[in-house]
Amino acid sequence: MLPKGFLWGNSVSSMQYDGAQHEGGKGPSVYENYEGAWEEAVDGYHRFHEDNELMAEMGMNCYRFQTSWSRIMPEGEGRVNQEGLVYYEALADDLIAQGIEPMACLYHFDMPLALAEEYDGFASKHVVDAFVEFAKVAIDALAPKVKWWITFNEQNLYGIPGACRIAGAADPVGNDEPKILQIAHNVMVAHARVVNYLHENYPDCKIGVMCAFTPVYPATSDPADVLAATEAERFSDWVVLDTAARGAYPVYYTAYLRRQGIELEMTAAEMADIARMRNDFAAFSYYRSDCVSAAKIPEGTPAVHLGEAGMVKNEHCEANEWGWQIDPAGFRRSLSEIYERCGLPAFPIENGIGWREELPADGTMVEDDYRISYHRDHIQAMKDAVEKDGVQVMGYLGWGLIDIPASSGTIVKRYGAVYVDYDAEGEKHLARYPKKSFAWFKKAFESNGEDLA
Ligand code: BG6
Repeated sequence: MLPKGFLWGNSVSSMQYDGAQHEGGKGPSVYENYEGAWEEAVDGYHRFHEDNELMAEMGMNCYRFQTSWSRIMPEGEGRVNQEGLVYYEALADDLIAQGIEPMACLYHFDMPLALAEEYDGFASKHVVDAFVEFAKVAIDALAPKVKWWITFNEQNLYGIPGACRIAGAADPVGNDEPKILQIAHNVMVAHARVVNYLHENYPDCKIGVMCAFTPVYPATSDPADVLAATEAERFSDWVVLDTAARGAYPVYYTAYLRRQGIELEMTAAEMADIARMRNDFAAFSYYRSDCVSAAKIPEGTPAVHLGEAGMVKNEHCEANEWGWQIDPAGFRRSLSEIYERCGLPAFPIENGIGWREELPADGTMVEDDYRISYHRDHIQAMKDAVEKDGVQVMGYLGWGLIDIPASSGTIVKRYGAVYVDYDAEGEKHLARYPKKSFAWFKKAFESNGEDLA
């Protein structure tokens, strides 16, 4: 049995949910320059009350949203946009009134444009300071209502390819490893400072580290494959969790920096902040597992590129259209390893399966049996982690359970139990329609995970 008070819910980011990119005093973020459905997303800015009602009806008692930096501080630093704070306060009030615990995430890849252009995003220490100032403003305004906090969405992604884009920094030409690792360090410092601030000022609030956890399997039992998988997993999945749990970088990491001759700009004061931080839980997103073959990895591949260089298909797992390998057993193993290795309660705050879907023209609902089976198997695997492996798990949040655009900004890949009609014109534009999985989630959540039939 899952414990009483277990948190069940949904998770989104602001650029994928809020829309209203040029309303309410919001400043520009780097998403101004990215193609995609960002302008209106699913118009959560105007429709959150209706969506919160749907989530309450689905039996949810927790919702993770993002407080967009450029909505609260339009230039990224200095001036505060009160209208932005009022919006997030109203959202939190509405959730609480409907019996849903709000959880706020402070950064999900949408760097304020001014900080990206003038300072190169999180490649710069100036932006670390600006982020901490923004976090303090958001926390001071919302902590009386919001007890659950996350600093960075998927913090481990700042240590692998793609880091520059999500950190609001320019991609370097040539060897990008030193820049990526500097960004990862700067982000860790920002995380530690915000964790310390919250604990010192709001002791009844909880804050966690958050990573995208994708277990990496060896393609065979060849020891070379096993070692490659271990190394890829360390650098893509573990380094942030290990550091957050111990308050210091793990030895495999510092040894690697030495071996590569990479000298990061890190000060004693920064390392003291990292040593002092106490995370209350280890949050993570889980969608799939990966698999690597040592033979595919060229000699001398930098650690940040290992996972992508060695990637092969795992013949034992089915995958969705985008090749994301479905692996509930990997979910059980991830929960248990994170809990044991970090000594922190585990909290999966994103899980789900992306699928191409269309609203049937005859007015019937989307029959998303594949989604029911994905979540059933993953919730069962989580129950096994709790009941058989003794793991402490705080809750389970699905990703985008009311449809939102995918991270690429396209609207073909959906995760929801509620269909959002992007295509309709007029009054029906962005209307919400429960899919078949809606009733299944309601039963699963309201029975605290007992009824998964
Ligand atoms: C997570 C991100 O990595 O995965 C989300 O936090 C993203 O922003 C989600 O939407 C699913 O990925 P995608 O690419 O299918 O939208």
